[in-house]
Amino acid sequence: MDTEKVLQISHLEKSFGTHEVLRDIDFTVNKGEAISIIGPSGSGKSTLLRCVNLLETPTGGNIYYHGKDITDAKMNIPSYREHVGMVFQNFNLFANMTVLENCMTGPVTVAKKSKKEAKELAIKFLEKVGMEQYINAKPRQLSGGQKQRVAIARALAMEPEVLLFDEPTSALDPQMVGEVLSVMSKLAKEGMTMLVVTHEMAFAKEVSDKVIFMADGVIVEEGSSSDIFEHAKQEQTKEFLNRFHTTV
Ligand SMILES: Nc1ncnc2c1ncn2[C@@H]1O[C@H](COP(=O)(O)OP(=O)(O)O)[C@@H](O)[C@H]1O
Ligand SMILES: [Mg+2]
Repeated sequence: MDTEKVLQISHLEKSFGTHEVLRDIDFTVNKGEAISIIGPSGSGKSTLLRCVNLLETPTGGNIYYHGKDITDAKMNIPSYREHVGMVFQNFNLFANMTVLENCMTGPVTVAKKSKKEAKELAIKFLEKVGMEQYINAKPRQLSGGQKQRVAIARALAMEPEVLLFDEPTSALDPQMVGEVLSVMSKLAKEGMTMLVVTHEMAFAKEVSDKVIFMADGVIVEEGSSSDIFEHAKQEQTKEFLNRFHTTV
């Protein structure tokens, strides 16, 4: 079993003014792991992912990427984000660009690939998410599920080592959730290293190598899927999961 540490989050803290949103967050992301982060709304899950992607600056603690502290002021943030990509709840596609252009722009402008190489990468990953027949479409012509699959292809076209997902199916109509989760399950099975904030408990239970339950800015409990979904130790975890009982 490969246990190369990719990310190590150590005593991470984040406050907005006097509001402490994250307190003493500690966990490790090993290569090839799919980790789900679950917990009530407002518990700090998005803030945690945004800190890991440096969209927010932590107010305490450290985040190590292959042992290098990314919270260091000298860190090259765009270069780091080539390796650690992010998929958002609201897709964040460029509305004025076609599907193909959306997937080529990062490889060309950030990764400095040739147009030809970027196009090959874009098409390869659009095929992976089943969106290759839409290369000339604009985002407004796509359904929510299709937009999110394009957003995943766009993130993959940077060939990142880690992908962060912040509730990628929460903005979707129910009938479109499955197509996005199936793409994500496929990536996890192929060994992509993933950190996924989700309310999809079936996905968290079936796909994750590790599950983190957060509440009120702290990690309440962390373990394997079976540790959390079948043998939770903390009352708070059990109560949270009971609310989803009918859907798991
Ligand atoms: N930019 C911000 N400024 C001030 N407060 C924020 C900001 N972002 C998030 N928060 C607060 O941090 C807390 C956690 O939010 P969030 O990370 O979005 O939780 P979750 O994703 O688990 O729902 C909330 O109380 C939220 O209001
Ligand atoms: Mg959130």
